Amino acid sequence: MEIRNICCIGAGYVGGPTMAVIALKCPEIKINIVDIDKSKIDLWNSNNLDDLPVFEPGLSDIISEVRDKNLFFRTDVNKCIDKADMVFMAVNTPTKTEGEGKGMAADLKYVESCARTIAKASRTDKIIVEKSTLPVRTAEKIIDILSENKKVKFQVLSNPEFLAEGTAIQDLFKSDRILIGGELSEEGKIAVNSLAKIYERWIHKDKILKLNIWSSELSKLVSNAMLAQRISSINSISSLCEKTGADIEEVALSVGMDSRIGPDFLKASIGFGGSCFKKDILNLVYMLNYYGLEKEAIYWKNVVDINSYQTTRFSDKILKALHPYENKTISVLGWAFKKDTNDSRESASIYLTKYLIENNVKVKVYDPMVSKQRVYNDLLEMGANINSKNLKFFNSPIEAIKSSSGIAICTEWDEFKNYDWKNIYNLMDDSPWVFDGRNILNIKKIKGFGFNVYSIGK
Ligand code: NAD
Ligand code: UGA
Repeated sequence: MEIRNICCIGAGYVGGPTMAVIALKCPEIKINIVDIDKSKIDLWNSNNLDDLPVFEPGLSDIISEVRDKNLFFRTDVNKCIDKADMVFMAVNTPTKTEGEGKGMAADLKYVESCARTIAKASRTDKIIVEKSTLPVRTAEKIIDILSENKKVKFQVLSNPEFLAEGTAIQDLFKSDRILIGGELSEEGKIAVNSLAKIYERWIHKDKILKLNIWSSELSKLVSNAMLAQRISSINSISSLCEKTGADIEEVALSVGMDSRIGPDFLKASIGFGGSCFKKDILNLVYMLNYYGLEKEAIYWKNVVDINSYQTTRFSDKILKALHPYENKTISVLGWAFKKDTNDSRESASIYLTKYLIENNVKVKVYDPMVSKQRVYNDLLEMGANINSKNLKFFNSPIEAIKSSSGIAICTEWDEFKNYDWKNIYNLMDDSPWVFDGRNILNIKKIKGFGFNVYSIGK
């Protein structure tokens, strides 16, 4: 089946960049991205490309090339669905905050609501693509909802997304693999091949795996769990390095040179953040428990627990070093959960700042990409007791650093490496500290300027 018109529901960090790349690679396909959040659609349509709601290196260039040619950001959801041959669901699947599975299971209310909207709005046959990350067997639920529309035939595919924020465009251009899960029936195979044909424009056929739909859904969760597990593993060893004089970077380098282990995702840090690792592992843990696999559930839950512990351990190092710490000021450099994104969901800096404020430390924040409003909202959503005395946000790093007792580096932004640290030393209180939560600075050099330094795993 030839796809001429695509509708993507959800104009977020996945929907926006993914559809921009498909639009670029397939100029003859018309793509409408829709969202219930009108303000987000307005930002995607903004004349000023600096205002796009998602910051990703390379994204604005693609948007300026394809927007209003074959890529459109719209709010008329029903109409766009009805016109489409293929509908992607790229809506959020956060952890449930109430009801059965609260705090663990993925909340499927947005996905289910999409399915209901698709069932109501469709008058012609369609291929529905699960792009969101979903618990295994969600397709069953979606098929059930879609079957309310008796006049139209739907084929449901699982096509999880593996892009990482900050490198989304390059990840989409050079995906390690594309998973397409579908039904084994003749119609199912036609649907799988229609989607594969789109990716084949720029991804080699050998990297496109056609699978059983449940394997596809589950592989996404397991990929994220395995990536996060490597970070928790190396972070758990960082504490041992601090006790023994081993250096975590040397250990990671040595271990990663074993080709069976590989060098990636072995960077010790203040703890992983982002909207997905924690929620996806908790969802996996919930499913394991649901199927009575308690030992397996405990194993994976530890990956999340070690991560929270690493952030608390880092926060405690700060309090101990600054003792007596009450009313001292710490400058938090970096609010995004990693560099090259404006996304701060689940960023370790939120947990660190809340903890410091609870212990009567004053915090000054700077991030090159995250807004003041976002920083305040993140803390309020977390229940932090912030006020104008204990929290200040600055658009300039120098203002954020001036007269504080210590700097906590929470994001590995490149600009932090290039600061004039000698000059910064002179702007701070006596015997200032640098707490490097990302191991990006040259400790010897920084110590040479007079700083006390704590680096993870050193
Ligand atoms: P997001 O919050 O940035 O975007 C989701 C969008 O969906 C929001 O703008 C929301 O308004 C919209 N939406 C929700 N319900 C809707 C409805 N019924 N109709 C229309 N719009 C609706 O989320 P995201 O980061 O893009 O993640 C989306 C999914 O992709 C999640 O399942 C996530 O786990 C997965 N994922 C995310 C990433 C990532 O890097 N962020 C990578 C791979 C997979
Ligand atoms: C991650 C996965 O890498 C993507 O493949 C997946 O598609 C995505 O989750 C998702 O499903 O949402 P993302 O969270 O955007 O992507 O970014 P990562 O590069 O994985 O980083 C996650 C967190 O781990 C960041 O806070 C990062 O700083 C931290 N990290 C990463 C480390 O602390 N150490 C490392 O070695 C690597």
